[in-house]
Amino acid sequence: MSHKQQGARGKQQAVRSKGEKETPHCSLLTAHPGGLSQGVLIALEGIDGAGKTTQAQLLKDFLRQKGFEVVCFKEPTPGPWGRKIAEIARWGRKGISAQEEMELFLRDREEDVRDNILPALRENKIVIMDRYYYSSIAYQGALGLDPNEIKEINEQRFPKPDLVFILTIPPAEGIKRILSRGQGSGIRGPQRSPAYEEETYLTRVAKIFHELAKNKEPRTKNQEQRTKNKEQRTKSYEPSAKGLLEPPSTHCLLIDGMRQINIVHQEIAPSVLDRLSPLMRCSCP
Ligand code: TYD
Repeated sequence: MSHKQQGARGKQQAVRSKGEKETPHCSLLTAHPGGLSQGVLIALEGIDGAGKTTQAQLLKDFLRQKGFEVVCFKEPTPGPWGRKIAEIARWGRKGISAQEEMELFLRDREEDVRDNILPALRENKIVIMDRYYYSSIAYQGALGLDPNEIKEINEQRFPKPDLVFILTIPPAEGIKRILSRGQGSGIRGPQRSPAYEEETYLTRVAKIFHELAKNKEPRTKNQEQRTKNKEQRTKSYEPSAKGLLEPPSTHCLLIDGMRQINIVHQEIAPSVLDRLSPLMRCSCP
Protein backbone atom coordinates (compact mmCIF):
# COMPACT_ATOMS: atom_id res chain seq x y z
CA MET A 1 0.00 0.00 0.00
CA SER A 2 1.02 3.53 -0.57
CA HIS A 3 1.82 4.14 3.10
CA LYS A 4 5.41 3.16 2.42
CA GLN A 5 5.72 5.77 -0.30
CA GLN A 6 3.72 8.44 1.40
CA GLY A 7 6.60 9.31 3.75
CA ALA A 8 5.50 12.11 5.92
CA ARG A 9 7.98 14.63 4.72
CA GLY A 10 5.64 17.09 3.07
CA LYS A 11 2.94 16.90 5.65
CA GLN A 12 5.16 16.85 8.71
CA GLN A 13 7.75 19.35 7.50
CA ALA A 14 6.49 22.06 9.78
CA VAL A 15 6.39 19.88 12.83
CA ARG A 16 9.99 20.21 13.91
CA SER A 17 9.70 21.65 17.34
CA LYS A 18 11.22 24.85 18.55
CA GLY A 19 14.99 24.68 18.73
CA GLU A 20 15.16 21.06 17.65
CA LYS A 21 18.53 20.37 16.08
CA GLU A 22 19.30 17.55 13.71
CA THR A 23 21.14 14.85 15.55
CA PRO A 24 24.62 15.35 14.05
CA HIS A 25 25.72 11.86 13.02
CA CYS A 26 22.28 10.77 11.81
CA SER A 27 21.32 13.82 9.83
CA LEU A 28 21.54 11.91 6.56
CA LEU A 29 19.63 8.86 7.64
CA THR A 30 16.28 8.61 5.95
CA ALA A 31 13.78 5.84 5.49
CA HIS A 32 14.27 3.45 2.59
CA PRO A 33 11.51 4.07 0.04
CA GLY A 34 10.44 0.47 0.58
CA GLY A 35 10.02 1.05 4.31
CA LEU A 36 11.46 -0.99 7.14
CA SER A 37 12.03 -4.71 6.84
CA GLN A 38 10.06 -5.28 10.06
CA GLY A 39 7.94 -3.45 12.59
CA VAL A 40 9.66 -1.79 15.54
CA LEU A 41 8.10 -1.34 18.94
CA ILE A 42 9.30 1.51 21.15
CA ALA A 43 7.95 2.22 24.63
CA LEU A 44 8.27 5.42 26.64
CA GLU A 45 7.93 4.78 30.33
CA GLY A 46 8.37 6.56 33.63
CA ILE A 47 6.40 7.89 36.56
CA ASP A 48 3.56 10.38 36.12
CA GLY A 49 4.77 13.77 34.98
CA ALA A 50 8.07 12.45 33.56
CA GLY A 51 7.34 13.79 30.07
CA LYS A 52 6.44 10.62 28.18
CA THR A 53 3.60 12.10 26.13
CA THR A 54 5.67 15.10 25.04
CA GLN A 55 8.60 12.90 24.07
CA ALA A 56 6.36 10.41 22.25
CA GLN A 57 4.97 13.25 20.17
CA LEU A 58 8.41 14.69 19.40
CA LEU A 59 9.75 11.28 18.45
CA LYS A 60 6.77 10.58 16.22
CA ASP A 61 7.19 13.91 14.41
CA PHE A 62 10.96 13.43 14.07
CA LEU A 63 10.62 9.95 12.58
CA ARG A 64 7.83 11.00 10.23
CA GLN A 65 10.00 13.81 9.01
CA LYS A 66 12.59 11.19 8.17
CA GLY A 67 9.99 9.40 6.07
CA PHE A 68 9.09 6.55 8.41
CA GLU A 69 5.63 5.17 8.97
CA VAL A 70 4.93 5.84 12.63
CA VAL A 71 1.93 5.36 14.88
CA CYS A 72 1.62 6.30 18.50
CA PHE A 73 -0.64 4.62 21.08
CA LYS A 74 -1.25 5.38 24.71
CA GLU A 75 -2.05 3.13 27.66
CA PRO A 76 -4.39 3.06 29.44
CA THR A 77 -6.41 3.30 26.23
CA PRO A 78 -9.71 5.14 25.67
CA GLY A 79 -11.41 1.73 25.28
CA PRO A 80 -13.84 0.11 27.75
CA TRP A 81 -11.14 -1.28 30.06
CA GLY A 82 -9.16 1.92 29.86
CA ARG A 83 -12.27 3.83 30.92
CA LYS A 84 -12.66 1.61 33.98
CA ILE A 85 -9.03 2.33 34.85
CA ALA A 86 -9.66 6.04 34.40
CA GLU A 87 -12.46 5.76 36.96
CA ILE A 88 -10.05 4.30 39.48
CA ALA A 89 -7.49 6.97 38.76
CA ARG A 90 -10.18 9.57 39.25
CA TRP A 91 -12.02 8.29 42.31
CA GLY A 92 -9.53 6.00 44.03
CA ARG A 93 -9.14 2.23 44.29
CA LYS A 94 -12.12 1.70 46.61
CA GLY A 95 -11.22 -1.83 47.64
CA ILE A 96 -10.02 -3.04 44.24
CA SER A 97 -7.12 -5.41 44.88
CA ALA A 98 -3.74 -5.11 43.19
CA GLN A 99 -4.49 -8.33 41.32
CA GLU A 100 -7.85 -7.03 40.05
CA GLU A 101 -6.21 -3.79 39.03
CA MET A 102 -3.56 -5.63 37.06
CA GLU A 103 -6.26 -7.68 35.39
CA LEU A 104 -7.84 -4.44 34.11
CA PHE A 105 -4.54 -3.28 32.63
CA LEU A 106 -4.01 -6.70 31.03
CA ARG A 107 -7.45 -6.66 29.43
CA ASP A 108 -6.93 -3.13 28.21
CA ARG A 109 -3.56 -4.08 26.74
CA GLU A 110 -4.97 -7.23 25.17
CA GLU A 111 -7.37 -5.11 23.11
CA ASP A 112 -4.69 -2.57 22.31
CA VAL A 113 -2.28 -5.25 21.09
CA ARG A 114 -4.95 -7.03 19.06
CA ASP A 115 -6.54 -3.95 17.49
CA ASN A 116 -3.67 -1.48 17.21
CA ILE A 117 -0.18 -2.71 17.98
CA LEU A 118 0.02 -6.03 16.13
CA PRO A 119 -1.67 -4.75 12.96
CA ALA A 120 0.79 -1.83 12.80
CA LEU A 121 3.81 -4.06 13.45
CA ARG A 122 2.65 -6.43 10.76
CA GLU A 123 2.67 -3.49 8.35
CA ASN A 124 6.32 -2.87 9.36
CA LYS A 125 5.50 0.41 11.03
CA ILE A 126 7.23 1.99 13.97
CA VAL A 127 4.92 1.83 16.98
CA ILE A 128 5.56 4.29 19.78
CA MET A 129 3.86 3.42 23.06
CA ASP A 130 3.14 6.09 25.64
CA ARG A 131 3.29 3.51 28.46
CA TYR A 132 3.30 -0.23 27.90
CA TYR A 133 3.77 -3.24 30.13
CA TYR A 134 6.82 -1.83 31.96
CA SER A 135 4.24 0.42 33.63
CA SER A 136 2.41 -2.66 34.90
CA ILE A 137 5.64 -4.14 36.22
CA ALA A 138 6.49 -0.92 38.06
CA TYR A 139 3.06 0.30 39.20
CA GLN A 140 1.41 -3.00 40.07
CA GLY A 141 4.78 -4.28 41.35
CA ALA A 142 4.85 -1.30 43.70
CA LEU A 143 1.47 -2.44 45.02
CA GLY A 144 3.06 -5.69 46.17
CA LEU A 145 2.70 -8.03 43.18
CA ASP A 146 5.86 -9.84 42.08
CA PRO A 147 7.46 -7.71 39.31
CA ASN A 148 9.05 -10.78 37.73
CA GLU A 149 5.73 -12.50 37.43
CA ILE A 150 4.08 -9.40 35.96
CA LYS A 151 6.90 -9.24 33.42
CA GLU A 152 6.50 -12.87 32.48
CA ILE A 153 2.74 -12.71 32.14
CA ASN A 154 3.07 -9.72 29.84
CA GLU A 155 5.93 -11.16 27.80
CA GLN A 156 3.99 -14.35 27.36
CA ARG A 157 0.97 -12.49 25.95
CA PHE A 158 2.27 -9.40 24.24
CA PRO A 159 5.03 -8.39 21.83
CA LYS A 160 8.23 -7.37 23.57
CA PRO A 161 9.38 -3.84 22.83
CA ASP A 162 12.62 -3.41 20.89
CA LEU A 163 13.50 -0.26 22.79
CA VAL A 164 12.30 1.11 26.11
CA PHE A 165 13.12 4.60 27.34
CA ILE A 166 12.49 5.14 31.02
CA LEU A 167 12.28 8.85 31.76
CA THR A 168 13.40 9.59 35.30
CA ILE A 169 12.38 12.47 37.52
CA PRO A 170 12.07 12.74 41.31
CA PRO A 171 8.54 11.73 42.38
CA ALA A 172 7.97 15.10 44.08
CA GLU A 173 8.70 16.84 40.77
CA GLY A 174 6.34 14.49 38.92
CA ILE A 175 3.53 15.30 41.33
CA LYS A 176 4.27 19.01 41.03
CA ARG A 177 4.04 18.83 37.25
CA ILE A 178 0.76 16.90 37.36
CA LEU A 179 -0.82 19.30 39.81
CA SER A 180 0.22 22.25 37.71
CA ARG A 181 -1.62 20.74 34.71
CA GLY A 182 -4.72 20.48 36.92
CA GLN A 183 -7.35 22.31 34.89
CA GLY A 184 -8.31 19.80 32.21
CA SER A 185 -11.12 17.34 32.13
CA GLY A 186 -10.89 13.58 32.51
CA ILE A 187 -8.41 11.93 34.80
CA ARG A 188 -6.08 14.91 34.65
CA GLY A 189 -8.85 16.98 36.13
CA PRO A 190 -9.12 18.38 39.63
CA GLN A 191 -10.76 15.20 40.92
CA ARG A 192 -7.81 13.06 39.99
CA SER A 193 -7.22 10.77 42.91
CA PRO A 194 -3.79 10.42 44.45
CA ALA A 195 -4.15 6.63 44.04
CA TYR A 196 -1.39 6.49 41.43
CA GLU A 197 0.44 9.58 42.45
CA GLU A 198 1.16 9.51 46.12
CA GLU A 199 4.85 10.28 46.63
CA THR A 200 5.87 7.19 48.60
CA TYR A 201 4.06 5.00 46.10
CA LEU A 202 5.71 6.73 43.15
CA THR A 203 9.08 6.31 44.88
CA ARG A 204 8.55 2.53 44.88
CA VAL A 205 7.39 2.69 41.25
CA ALA A 206 10.52 4.65 40.30
CA LYS A 207 12.76 2.11 42.05
CA ILE A 208 11.31 -0.75 40.01
CA PHE A 209 11.73 1.26 36.79
CA HIS A 210 15.42 1.74 37.72
CA GLU A 211 15.87 -1.96 38.36
CA LEU A 212 14.31 -2.77 35.01
CA ALA A 213 16.68 -0.43 33.21
CA LYS A 214 19.67 -1.95 34.98
CA ASN A 215 18.34 -5.30 33.90
CA LYS A 216 18.29 -6.49 37.47
CA GLU A 217 15.85 -9.27 38.10
CA PRO A 218 13.91 -7.83 41.03
CA ARG A 219 13.72 -11.26 42.74
CA THR A 220 14.50 -14.82 41.82
CA LYS A 221 11.85 -16.70 43.76
CA ASN A 222 10.81 -19.93 42.02
CA GLN A 223 13.05 -19.07 39.10
CA GLU A 224 13.35 -22.64 37.88
CA GLN A 225 9.63 -23.24 37.91
CA ARG A 226 9.09 -20.01 36.03
CA THR A 227 11.60 -21.02 33.37
CA LYS A 228 9.73 -24.30 32.92
CA ASN A 229 6.40 -22.50 32.66
CA LYS A 230 7.89 -20.12 30.14
CA GLU A 231 9.08 -22.98 27.94
CA GLN A 232 5.61 -24.48 28.00
CA ARG A 233 3.96 -21.18 27.20
CA THR A 234 6.37 -20.47 24.35
CA LYS A 235 5.06 -23.62 22.67
CA SER A 236 1.52 -22.31 22.76
CA TYR A 237 2.18 -19.00 20.96
CA GLU A 238 -0.18 -18.20 18.18
CA PRO A 239 1.89 -18.85 15.02
CA SER A 240 1.00 -15.56 13.31
CA ALA A 241 2.25 -13.55 16.27
CA LYS A 242 5.25 -15.72 17.04
CA GLY A 243 7.88 -13.66 15.27
CA LEU A 244 6.67 -10.52 16.95
CA LEU A 245 6.56 -12.08 20.36
CA GLU A 246 10.18 -13.13 20.28
CA PRO A 247 12.36 -10.20 19.24
CA PRO A 248 16.10 -10.66 19.77
CA SER A 249 16.38 -8.39 22.77
CA THR A 250 14.92 -5.37 24.46
CA HIS A 251 17.17 -2.37 25.04
CA CYS A 252 16.10 -0.42 28.05
CA LEU A 253 17.62 3.00 28.65
CA LEU A 254 17.29 5.40 31.55
CA ILE A 255 16.85 8.99 30.41
CA ASP A 256 17.15 11.95 32.77
CA GLY A 257 13.78 13.68 32.38
CA MET A 258 14.77 16.73 34.41
CA ARG A 259 16.51 18.36 31.46
CA GLN A 260 14.99 20.57 28.79
CA ILE A 261 12.49 18.88 26.49
CA ASN A 262 14.71 19.24 23.41
CA ILE A 263 17.78 17.91 25.17
CA VAL A 264 15.85 14.84 26.24
CA HIS A 265 14.58 14.37 22.69
CA GLN A 266 18.11 14.66 21.32
CA GLU A 267 19.17 11.81 23.55
CA ILE A 268 16.28 9.59 22.53
CA ALA A 269 16.32 10.21 18.75
CA PRO A 270 19.83 8.85 17.95
CA SER A 271 19.22 5.69 19.97
CA VAL A 272 16.11 5.06 17.90
CA LEU A 273 17.92 5.69 14.62
CA ASP A 274 20.72 3.35 15.70
CA ARG A 275 18.15 0.67 16.28
CA LEU A 276 16.48 1.34 12.92
CA SER A 277 19.61 1.59 10.80
CA PRO A 278 20.09 -2.16 10.19
CA LEU A 279 16.51 -2.24 8.95
CA MET A 280 16.80 0.60 6.45
CA ARG A 281 19.02 2.15 3.81
CA CYS A 282 21.46 4.79 4.97
CA SER A 283 22.17 7.57 2.49
CA CYS A 284 25.34 8.63 4.31
CA PRO A 285 28.21 9.08 1.86
P1 TYD B 1 -1.47 8.14 32.64
O1 TYD B 1 -0.39 7.89 31.64
O2 TYD B 1 -1.14 9.03 33.76
O3 TYD B 1 -2.81 8.55 31.92
P2 TYD B 1 -3.32 10.04 31.63
O4 TYD B 1 -2.20 10.76 30.93
O5 TYD B 1 -4.52 9.81 30.75
O6 TYD B 1 -3.63 10.64 32.94
O7 TYD B 1 -1.89 6.69 33.21
C1 TYD B 1 -2.78 6.55 34.29
C2 TYD B 1 -2.14 5.78 35.40
O8 TYD B 1 -2.16 4.39 35.12
C3 TYD B 1 -0.70 6.15 35.66
O9 TYD B 1 -0.58 6.72 36.93
C4 TYD B 1 0.04 4.85 35.63
C5 TYD B 1 -1.02 3.81 35.71
N1 TYD B 1 -0.68 2.55 35.02
C6 TYD B 1 -0.54 1.39 35.77
O10 TYD B 1 -0.66 1.42 37.00
N2 TYD B 1 -0.28 0.21 35.13
C7 TYD B 1 -0.16 0.13 33.77
O11 TYD B 1 0.06 -0.97 33.21
C8 TYD B 1 -0.33 1.34 33.00
C9 TYD B 1 -0.23 1.29 31.51
C10 TYD B 1 -0.58 2.53 33.67
